[in-house]
Amino acid sequence: MTTPSTPTATDRIPTPKSPPPDILRCAYMELVVTDLAVSRDFYVDVLGLVVTEEDENTVYLRSFEEFIHHNLVLRQGEVAAVAAFSYRVRSPQELDVAVAFYEELGCRVERRTEGFTTGIGDSVRVQDPLGFPYEFFFDARHVERLAWRYDLQGPGALVRLDHFNQVTPDVPKAVAFMEDLGFRVTEDIQDQAGTTYAAWMRRKPTVHDTAMTGGDGPRMHHVAFATHEKHNILAICDKLGALRRSDHIERGPGRHGVSNAFYLYLRDPDGHRVEIYTQDYYTGDPDNPVVTWDVHDNQRRDWWGNPVVPSWYTDASLVLDLDGNPQPVLERTDASEMAQTIGADGFSYTREGEAETELPAWKQGEYKLGHQL
Ligand SMILES: [Fe+2]
Repeated sequence: MTTPSTPTATDRIPTPKSPPPDILRCAYMELVVTDLAVSRDFYVDVLGLVVTEEDENTVYLRSFEEFIHHNLVLRQGEVAAVAAFSYRVRSPQELDVAVAFYEELGCRVERRTEGFTTGIGDSVRVQDPLGFPYEFFFDARHVERLAWRYDLQGPGALVRLDHFNQVTPDVPKAVAFMEDLGFRVTEDIQDQAGTTYAAWMRRKPTVHDTAMTGGDGPRMHHVAFATHEKHNILAICDKLGALRRSDHIERGPGRHGVSNAFYLYLRDPDGHRVEIYTQDYYTGDPDNPVVTWDVHDNQRRDWWGNPVVPSWYTDASLVLDLDGNPQPVLERTDASEMAQTIGADGFSYTREGEAETELPAWKQGEYKLGHQL
């Protein structure tokens, strides 16, 4: 067994006296891509997202149930990265609240009444204390909600933006800050020594609007779109196979332990990770119980016990500061989840209390790095 490193003395971000803005939901991501035509082909022609508007440098995309202008902005640029994780707030007044909250923390705050992207009005962008570019807005142009347009929806239709996933070196520090921002933990992964490897946090009453994943950061792990049902995800796999583009598939399809959702992870032409996700659960009651998973539980990341590929643990996208420069990446000092579960001296179980040697002989070692052909 690996001895987990002593949890770092988390240098907690102070709780502002100003209240946090009332956040409704994750709303859109602005993604910098290095070849707009190639990325447009992937997101529009392969995944079927709807083009709301486009020009020579930018494509504004939405999912079939969305009524605001976009859920994803693809912007041509030099370095593939995330320019904004954008959240919708409850009213225009909440932007003043956001400004006060982040200014008290000493963060860089920028407000544009005309918005940072087409179709979105008055907006606040901040470089948050964790190093992520966050945006808040209420005012947005409404567009046709295509939920009933089955004539336009393919078998793998993406119907909602579901969540973001952020990589950060100190998960407890990030979770405490996000709780100050009004988010609540739905599930997390820990070990018995008290190291936290990841946490899923929500505003809307689903499992999450964003997750904090332990690793070198700040980086973006993935952006996730929801389908109606599991078969829609299988249809996306079939389509990628038929196009001889199965190399976009990084992991899955499968059933998550955490979140109970059905999933598929894809990598876009720049390597940005996109999750296709469906059928998690309702979390809207105030006493919704927190679920904690053991990092050694083989079923936490995949309910069927399929091992996680190493790239899923190590790769993530850079994030930009408000000037458009990539944020420096800080190394995680706490134990890594990959080392705990697939490292040379890691261990894991399918049935708690059983040693790995009690697994069938052909299954032993499956979670060790380098075991897979
Ligand atoms: Fe996810």
